[in-house]
Amino acid sequence: MEKYLIKTFTGLEQVLANELTALGAENVKAVSRGVLCEGSDRLMYRANLELRTGLRVYKHLADFDASSPDALYYGIGDFDWESILPRNGTFWVTSTANRTEWVLNTMIVTLKTKDAIVDKLRVGETRPNIERDRPDLRVHTYVHDGQGSVWLDSTGDPLFKRGYRLRTLEAPINEVLAAGILSIAEYSAATPLVDPMCGSGTFLIEAARMAMNIPSQNERQFFAFMNWPDFDAKRWQVVRQQALSRVHRGQIAPIIGSDLERRAIRYADRNIHQSGLSKRIELHEADFFKVSAPFEKGKLIMNPPYDERLSIERGAAWYGDIGHALKHYWSGWEANVVSGFMDGLYSLKLTPKRKIPLDNGGIPVELWRIPLYAGSKFDTLQSEPDSDVVTEDNTFHSEED
Ligand SMILES: C[S@@+](CC[C@H](N)C(=O)[O-])C[C@H]1O[C@@H](n2cnc3c(N)ncnc32)[C@H](O)[C@@H]1O
Repeated sequence: MEKYLIKTFTGLEQVLANELTALGAENVKAVSRGVLCEGSDRLMYRANLELRTGLRVYKHLADFDASSPDALYYGIGDFDWESILPRNGTFWVTSTANRTEWVLNTMIVTLKTKDAIVDKLRVGETRPNIERDRPDLRVHTYVHDGQGSVWLDSTGDPLFKRGYRLRTLEAPINEVLAAGILSIAEYSAATPLVDPMCGSGTFLIEAARMAMNIPSQNERQFFAFMNWPDFDAKRWQVVRQQALSRVHRGQIAPIIGSDLERRAIRYADRNIHQSGLSKRIELHEADFFKVSAPFEKGKLIMNPPYDERLSIERGAAWYGDIGHALKHYWSGWEANVVSGFMDGLYSLKLTPKRKIPLDNGGIPVELWRIPLYAGSKFDTLQSEPDSDVVTEDNTFHSEED
């Protein structure tokens, strides 16, 4: 049994732990921005192919004392590198470190790791070389409280690079975060889903792939583990075939996206086409303020823009209009609103049943899960909607449909 560390974004640790448990991982333990677990090579193949909320899968090699640069050098050098890297092979080193006095910056950890590996394998003129793109091995050294550990990155390009997103507008949501938000929102194939500010369509595509059980890395041809000497191509093919045989090709509840901008709809359409989901996702060019719920119940998911050029007051007032529209045109639904603009979220004037802090590429955001009860006691808005908010020319389901 091998030990693995799978990295994710802050706030998605438990979702990732659940995914790993479902894949058969053992001793699953959520840690900060990651999950530790145990399993076989097969688990590692499945994790890379199927995880929706994982960023990278590291395989554990060794633990050692790292209380000084020399201790780290000898600790790395103790590992049997001959068994996994040819003397003239290529490798790349990354590192993270914290709470260790001698590590003023991670460069020293990276350099010491590189020297230890090269010195261990060097014979005369022959030595392994550094290569950034597609090396034989990607080594990651981690130093914490003077303790070191060394890992192999089995992934390569991070797992949010799904391969379907050809075009994006400003501020697209990360694919891994989008998948995590859908899980936290308890989205399932049986629930209609609407993203009325869909941008390049990330939520729509991730939702359809989840509903149909399409492996998250369906399009990807290369993972770093394929360069390892123990790569078992037959086992990998079996894992891939089995994952494809679990794809659900039956009916799923409607998935509908709309956006005010024609360019967004064009990009979303291209991305949806690229992922082969054109028959599963409906797209409309529409203003959120002129549409209403197309069914009695469902999940609305949205990541409204926050233009920093706007004043906080104008931004908050705009979010107030969103809250107003949600209350009047989406009752019976659950709204899931993600934003880094906290004043905006409070200006919705709707009471969430849960607020979940998340991280969008270094920007702290919150997901608010808001049940929109008809005639809810949570309704705090006084005014009625303007009479012109629903127009006849909208392309999506208006109140007049
Ligand atoms: C932050 S982006 C959403 C990004 C999207 N989640 C993605 O992954 O690409 C916000 C989107 O809201 C759209 N938008 C702004 N105001 C709108 C409105 N009144 N109705 C519909 N869409 C609107 C913008 O055109 C933009 O595409």
